[in-house]
Amino acid sequence: MKKIRIGLIGAGGMGRAHTIAYKNLTNFFGNEIVPELVVVADVNEAAAAKMAETFGYQRSTGDWMSVVTDPEIDLIDITTPNASHCPIAIEAAKNGKNVYCEKPLAMDAEEARNATAVTDEAGIITAVGFNYLCNPIQVYVRDLIASGALGKVVDFRGTFDQDYYNEPDQKHEWRMFKSASASGALGDLASHTISLSQFLVGDVDEVCGMTSIVVPERPDPKDPSKMLPVENDDDVHFMMRYKNGAIGTIMSNRLASGRKLSLTYEIQLTNGSIVYTQERQNEVQIYRHDDDKKQRGFKTVYAVPGHGDFDKFYPAGAGFGMSYSDLKVIEVHNALSAAAENKPYEIDFHFATKIMEIIDAVLESAETRSWVKVGKE
Ligand SMILES: NC(=O)c1ccc[n+]([C@@H]2O[C@H](COP(=O)([O-])OP(=O)(O)OC[C@H]3O[C@@H](n4cnc5c(N)ncnc54)[C@H](O)[C@@H]3O)[C@@H](O)[C@H]2O)c1
Repeated sequence: MKKIRIGLIGAGGMGRAHTIAYKNLTNFFGNEIVPELVVVADVNEAAAAKMAETFGYQRSTGDWMSVVTDPEIDLIDITTPNASHCPIAIEAAKNGKNVYCEKPLAMDAEEARNATAVTDEAGIITAVGFNYLCNPIQVYVRDLIASGALGKVVDFRGTFDQDYYNEPDQKHEWRMFKSASASGALGDLASHTISLSQFLVGDVDEVCGMTSIVVPERPDPKDPSKMLPVENDDDVHFMMRYKNGAIGTIMSNRLASGRKLSLTYEIQLTNGSIVYTQERQNEVQIYRHDDDKKQRGFKTVYAVPGHGDFDKFYPAGAGFGMSYSDLKVIEVHNALSAAAENKPYEIDFHFATKIMEIIDAVLESAETRSWVKVGKE
């Protein structure tokens, strides 16, 4: 048994989701790696204290610096708003701590590259919260594409639409300020779609995008009679050309009526196609062009033991639905195993920097109304 002592920074929604995953880890993966909930920090000290009390962290604090310098911590888990991800990660790395950070990694690609250089130099393990890649069905899809059974990828069409900002009385929040979040739907939602595109199809060479702010101001949560500006994209569309010759589009709207967790993709290949929606995360639709003509049609493949870590949850077979929380358990397992074995995790700061490079290129493209190359020349 290996204990990993956790310092969590950020006691909001994602802090809660990560903590639930820590608490569930040994239930599904056994006690080879056991997280110890040592300390939780939040600028809102009362929120940190409440989380410590609810979930059994030994201590709480309002000072994250005391957590990254704490000799009793092995891994710093960052679940704060985007602007503080890299500053905290860099201090953690300088203190020799492994880092597990929520997406998007950084405010821009330069900040991501800098944080990656510091964490590489420190020789620590990093992991980033692109939890949808932990879905066993995505491991199946990646293997299916790699097998060549459906031919070569021709195009990827992805979305991430939600309607959580479409309520008329929706108040302003940090995600709408450039200083706290950088981009809007692009970094918050589409970063997940980009992570799937990266995981399943590969590197993007150039992009052409446009963004739109649909509701330009929102009521101040502290005083709803005052309005605050919405500074970043509510809606984003962009086209991509991959390095392997495939093409693609991604669209994301945080005011998309009726769309709840509409993280979707359709991948067209030369000999078939693959259709997925996160609203039905335990299955994927596969069309095989070389099926007998009289039998052709999309067929549903369910997640089963043999796909990724599905067997850890339901060894009996298909049809038992895994949930969002289960994906976080797999992610926590991946991050903590990498830290315990001192082996890099695929979804690390290098991977997340590629996502930031695409986000930067889309924003530049929208600004300049032109195609933009991805990454540093
Ligand atoms: N992977 C996913 O599916 C997913 C889902 C939602 C959010 N996220 C990401 O998680 C991060 C947090 O989002 P959230 O929804 O939990 O936000 P949230 O507003 O619910 O929580 C953020 C918490 O961080 C605290 N905080 C702010 N600045 C801080 C600082 N400098 N030091 C310490 N604490 C600080 C706030 O007081 C708050 O409690 C974001 O980067 C977001 O993009 C990821």
